[in-house]
Amino acid sequence: MMKDVTGRVIGQTPLKAGYWALDVEVPGVAEAAQPGQFVHVRVPGLEPVALRRPFSIYGAQGSVLKLLYKTVGRGTAQMNRLAPGDPMQVIGPLGNGFPLAPQGSPLLVAGGYGVAPLSFLAARLPVRGVALIGGRTADDVLAVADFERLGWTVRVATQDGSLGEAGLVTVPLDRELARLREAGVTPELFACGPDGLLRAVGERAVQTGCRGWLSLDKHMVCGVGACLACVQTLRRADGTEWIGRVCHDGPIFEAREIVW
Ligand SMILES: Cc1cc2nc3c(=O)[nH]c(=O)nc-3n(C[C@H](O)[C@H](O)[C@H](O)COP(=O)(O)OP(=O)(O)OC[C@H]3O[C@@H](n4cnc5c(N)ncnc54)[C@H](O)[C@@H]3O)c2cc1C
Ligand code: FES
Repeated sequence: MMKDVTGRVIGQTPLKAGYWALDVEVPGVAEAAQPGQFVHVRVPGLEPVALRRPFSIYGAQGSVLKLLYKTVGRGTAQMNRLAPGDPMQVIGPLGNGFPLAPQGSPLLVAGGYGVAPLSFLAARLPVRGVALIGGRTADDVLAVADFERLGWTVRVATQDGSLGEAGLVTVPLDRELARLREAGVTPELFACGPDGLLRAVGERAVQTGCRGWLSLDKHMVCGVGACLACVQTLRRADGTEWIGRVCHDGPIFEAREIVW
């Protein structure tokens, strides 16, 4: 179900340097939201060709939608100026979302703002598992308390070693995969973050023979399948390739579907 609704900003909270959590009341959109789906937000004051920006749904409670965003450019800087009571136009929920009935023990792998859809997923999955959260520095490691509150085990890795263990998040991921293999348990991987992280997680899903669900992050314009700004080469089960639109056919794809 997809709607274009004028919501009302409830408030914003600073999380870490450059990262914000924004609550907005959007009746009809929040209630329908599923983990892995996104909303296309109309940002006031932007040029007409790309008025909207896509954001994963970080949480939904009643008619309130939660977003978690990093200020990176003009649109997110404008969003940062939104005050309680301001209107915010939202199309959504958009996209397919993560599957909610895992066939294996869930391992969530997040990089930076990739924690947003995975935190929502952690709240809605029927089982608990391990959340692996990576970032360049401690300032890019977000939402650890969300996962812990929900009963997930959290492992943190930062590239500069300022929080958790030093290195890429694939280091604790490989350890978790080895632990599950020794215990004879099949993992199921869910990831959101930069392309390098998604590729690394996808390779491990293929090597391990388990399912791996990756949330692709592409520049978007229309957000609803009409403009072809977000195309991605994909592979069917019979090996033939096709061109998909991340906003319309994703943003979640199984690792074997993606042609990098
Ligand atoms: C499905 C989806 C879900 C997303 N969820 C979130 C989220 O939960 N939180 C969040 O902070 N961001 C999320 N993003 C990214 C977010 O849409 C962009 O950061 C935002 O559009 C940037 O807008 P801007 O006008 O501030 O930046 P611009 O001025 O448009 O660009 C500033 C810089 O950001 C880069 N950039 C722009 N769009 C993207 C993108 N999609 N991915 C990576 N880099 C980009 C540009 O190349 C440029 O270097 C998501 C993107 C997609 C496609
Ligand atoms: S953003 Fe227009 S087709 Fe995906």
